[in-house]
Amino acid sequence: MKMVQQKILLENKQYEIPYSIDQSKVVAAAEKALNKIEKNIDNYKNGFVESGLKYRFSSINQYWTHGMQTGCLWLAYEISGNKIFKDAAEHHFASYRTRFDEKIGMDDHDVGFVFSPSCVAQYKITGDEKARKCALDAAKYLYEKSYSKEGKFIIRSHVTWHTGGGCRTMMDSLMNAPLLFWASSETGNMDYHQAGVDHNKTTIDYLIREDASTFHHYQFEPQTAKPVRGLTLHGYSDDSCWSRGHSWGISGFPITYAYTHDDSLIPVHKDITYYMLNHLPDDHIPYWDYTFGQGSTQPRDSSAGVIAVCGMREMCKHLPDTAEQKAIFENASARILESTIANCAGDDYDEYDGLICHVTGALPQNAGIDACALYADYFYLEALMRYIRPDWKMYW
Ligand code: GLY
Repeated sequence: MKMVQQKILLENKQYEIPYSIDQSKVVAAAEKALNKIEKNIDNYKNGFVESGLKYRFSSINQYWTHGMQTGCLWLAYEISGNKIFKDAAEHHFASYRTRFDEKIGMDDHDVGFVFSPSCVAQYKITGDEKARKCALDAAKYLYEKSYSKEGKFIIRSHVTWHTGGGCRTMMDSLMNAPLLFWASSETGNMDYHQAGVDHNKTTIDYLIREDASTFHHYQFEPQTAKPVRGLTLHGYSDDSCWSRGHSWGISGFPITYAYTHDDSLIPVHKDITYYMLNHLPDDHIPYWDYTFGQGSTQPRDSSAGVIAVCGMREMCKHLPDTAEQKAIFENASARILESTIANCAGDDYDEYDGLICHVTGALPQNAGIDACALYADYFYLEALMRYIRPDWKMYW
């Protein structure tokens, strides 16, 4: 496995200063978020969110983001014990069975984002065998349709693989690999586990640059799966570092570590996390791409911040107290979460429907700029949960 050559130093010294977030702020933020979902519970239960500042609810479970709507309900239930959230989440189950059986929105890599925070969560929380079966079906499908044995990576789209556009892998799939790890742990099928391990290795080999920034995508030859070049889809340019994609690495590697205990992931994770911390502005909310820094008027992507908080909190569970980055991750996580609560879930809370604002979905595609999004909502709640209940059993 190639390691990032250069040891990345923490240049943003404010994260060396011990910092913690008041537990009362976390609890109050969670109550505020749960109240918002509860007020809108009929819509959350009976429809699936499109996107924007104001949520429109369609009746079809079809997008990569929809698993995280169900995930929000499970988190809300686990935080509060309020059965209204459990009832709504369980009501969603039939739509996952239909989505899998009728192959609705199933032609790409994001099967993990869809089925982990929904069906895996349902099984872990309630022991429901139907949910386990549906998640295992999805994992098998992800492995059979979207895992390239030649390239050893999860491909972008099995439908467009042979046209080249799909013959790529991307940072996002570090969060799809956990479905394979989970399925392997349930069934003993080591092919799934190996695919997850190899996907992580390929990502390290090709998508992480020497300075620990990341390509969003990496292109491979359609026929041979030989590496071609790094490029972007949602970032500023092929050689820039798209902040949300980078955060998928900060959250994905620790989840892989939880399944594999592969110590070689720890320095890679430290380097990419330090890269992010070195590129955060003073208010700790990431710009949508790390091309932009302190003082820029470019939009932010608050989702990149909370996703990274979840990753740092997960990695801290596995690091010894002597690890240099552990205190840094604790200080930085507290700063990012506190700023997100204040600046993205603040006084104007009723003016938008998401749980946090200042999310940028895909700026080059002119989609969801400075808006709300389900993945931001989900990882905000997961970040709060990781403070409220540090022993929380992850859905990934
Ligand atoms: N598909 C994951 C993302 O757009 O971040």
